[in-house]
Amino acid sequence: MSEQRIGGTTGNTQLPYRTSHIIGWGHEVPAATLTNADLEKIVETSDEWITTRTGIRERRIAAKGETTASMGALAAARALAVAGITANDVDLIVVATLSPDHLMPSTAVLIKGALGGTRAAAFDLSAACSGFPYAYAVAHGFLTAGLGQRALVIGAETLSRLVDWSDRATCVLFGDGAGAIVLEALDLEAGEEAATRPGTLSFELSADPSGAYALWIPGGVGEGADPLIKMDGAKTYAYATRTMAAVATAAIERAGLAPAHVDLVIPHQANVRIIEHVSKAIDYPMEKIFVNLDKYGNTSAASIPIAISEAVAAGRLTRGDVFCTVAFGGGYTSGAFVTRWGADPAHGARAASVDPASIRVVRPEGGAKADEPPSVLLEFLDGRQG
Ligand code: ACO
Repeated sequence: MSEQRIGGTTGNTQLPYRTSHIIGWGHEVPAATLTNADLEKIVETSDEWITTRTGIRERRIAAKGETTASMGALAAARALAVAGITANDVDLIVVATLSPDHLMPSTAVLIKGALGGTRAAAFDLSAACSGFPYAYAVAHGFLTAGLGQRALVIGAETLSRLVDWSDRATCVLFGDGAGAIVLEALDLEAGEEAATRPGTLSFELSADPSGAYALWIPGGVGEGADPLIKMDGAKTYAYATRTMAAVATAAIERAGLAPAHVDLVIPHQANVRIIEHVSKAIDYPMEKIFVNLDKYGNTSAASIPIAISEAVAAGRLTRGDVFCTVAFGGGYTSGAFVTRWGADPAHGARAASVDPASIRVVRPEGGAKADEPPSVLLEFLDGRQG
């Protein structure tokens, strides 16, 4: 199946006796919700259209002062608490995002500042909605090459600041939030087989430039550069349905497994119809696919780590379970990884020990554009902000 895509790459874990495993997880979403009924008052749409075409019922919108860095930092602080480590135990912070607070400095550096700790290298990674599998692969490579012991892998987005709130074809789809995991190097016993061995088992990443301008944000440099999302929905839908099943299948096969061996699939949460297509294409039951897009919409690089965190809390991932994540997004990009879960889900309760008031991101003097919610949303968010 992989020959249908351009640029399929990467493979099994690199060193024969070293892999990585997840020891911490956490997420943060804004308190303010924007429902489909609210959107009916902003653009010509209906709850019925949005629900039947996408499965989305509401999304979260960042309040004033809530940014990609602040949500990412809180998610990361919870992941550290769950792992039972401090910021100084981390060697690398990678933030997957298409909505960084600034072009420079990276959001990862701002998050490092909020968490404290001196050691970690920190940078952002741009792969749109496939950002989390890409960032996970980069961190895994860093750890298995011996460059460090632990990495924070964060997906965080404030898409409400990049949405054209007069474009009904896109504004109904997206939301804000952040998720994070702590990935740790894991030395394996010689001869451990894929059927039983713990930790990360495989990856599949790809990039297809034919979609470069089918889902994009002109933005970047240049006076007056347009900072809002543009999308050819039908073309993107076709790419997503074609690619997600192929990428998931390739990653599962690289792990030496078949879909029947996978206990849970955590897909990028863009559209429930795309997810149902994947279910049919790989003959995998919807009941074993995690879906929370009804609550959050498409949070791009944040959707998979938020879903991992919620799946563990819901008892859907326990020790020994194999799970596969799969994403597609702007680029076009796509990515998947397969991991055997090894952490004690009960450690998730430690996230409650994090006091949000203690995690503070330094903001520029006078604030920044990202700090302000779009004015068209203010009347709907009033009174619903945390
Ligand atoms: N409310 C009501 N009507 C709408 C809306 C809306 N919000 N949006 C579009 N319509 C209309 C269209 O104008 C069109 O009307 P027309 O027939 O009179 O021209 C009609 O609904 C049908 O439009 P379609 O585009 O055919 O609707 P479709 O069933 O394909 O669903 C959707 C559209 C949901 C956007 C779908 O194409 C999709 O999910 N595409 C993938 C989008 C996606 O996941 N993007 C994120 C990628 S991840 C990343 O990296 C950011």
